[in-house]
Amino acid sequence: MNCMARALTDPWTLGGVEIPNRVVLAPLAGIGNWFVRLQAKRYGAGLAVSEMVSSHAIFHGNERTCLEMLRIHPDEHPVSVQLFGADPDVMAAAAERVAAAGADIIDINMGCPVPKVCKTGAGAALLDDPDKAVAVALAAAKGSGLPITVKLRTGLRPGDGKGVALARALAERGGVAGLCVHPRHASQRHAGVPDYALAAELVRELPVPVLISGGLRSAQQARDAFEQTGAEAVLLARGSLGNPWLFAELIGERDQQPSRDEILAEVDWVLERAVEHMGEDRANRYLRKFYPWYIERLGGTRAQQAVLQSALQQTSTTAAARDLFHGAILDDLVAAGYTLAP
Ligand SMILES: Cc1cc2nc3c(=O)[nH]c(=O)nc-3n(C[C@H](O)[C@H](O)[C@H](O)COP(=O)(O)O)c2cc1C
Repeated sequence: MNCMARALTDPWTLGGVEIPNRVVLAPLAGIGNWFVRLQAKRYGAGLAVSEMVSSHAIFHGNERTCLEMLRIHPDEHPVSVQLFGADPDVMAAAAERVAAAGADIIDINMGCPVPKVCKTGAGAALLDDPDKAVAVALAAAKGSGLPITVKLRTGLRPGDGKGVALARALAERGGVAGLCVHPRHASQRHAGVPDYALAAELVRELPVPVLISGGLRSAQQARDAFEQTGAEAVLLARGSLGNPWLFAELIGERDQQPSRDEILAEVDWVLERAVEHMGEDRANRYLRKFYPWYIERLGGTRAQQAVLQSALQQTSTTAAARDLFHGAILDDLVAAGYTLAP
């Protein structure tokens, strides 16, 4: 194998879908909507995966799920929509709807460790039921006619080997076009060192492309994992939060950190898209979880960051949030001796 020739900038195909490079936005629940995916694309991501969407909610025609979570921007393609669920019939019907919404690929979540998801038999619980997992994957393909990928963990608990067994089953009889391995056990949630050696074994063994997720917070970590595992592509998750520049860095389009002006312009873009997506009031509340990512990138002392963070969490409009980021109101706050509540 000529590993030296592999590059993150190489184009590839996943189930017949052409993807211009090997840097992918990972699924992020509550975050990976169309504008977060579009942001990743604007900075060069080859593929973006949606936040996980309930197959049951789609099946029952839940309005917010169908209108908001399945919203796809024309400039996003290729885009993958991640579904979760454990009922093959429901999955088939939901997948059909996702195809009609314009997705290019469907990813199925078999790695989410959250009890609310697992107790329905979905997410990482499917690691315990390979036959059902295979049926769910086959149903998604049948319902949608799209290539299906599955994102999974290496096990439920250390040493149980369940993820490896499921990966084999999905590749052999689940008809999947690819697998994304997050080589941590579900019991580890998102902590601990990912087992890249195990992921490398899966890459070598499985007859389908294997993508790698986990611990890819910096460009160096992503490049190292790409090389060490031989994976087809890397998925950026927490490393991408408030940091779309990481995509550009990994595809060789920039090598410097963003300037303050670039960060502020990006904040403005996000504020505007969120209002466009969900209206002013909901956007104002929704974006509160985004602010810390951009505050961190702007730098400054811990005390300055804490003041900005505290003020942003109390804004009543996105325009006020914008002013705070741009410093107009913050200077007044600091001058007035504004500090964090003890
Ligand atoms: C806030 C958050 C939400 C996530 N949501 C999903 C999800 O909806 N579906 C999924 O398969 N993985 C989800 N993950 C897991 C990530 O896609 C990724 O596999 C994990 O964070 C490991 O990568 P990292 O260590 O580079 O962050 C989520 C992770 C975080 C931190």
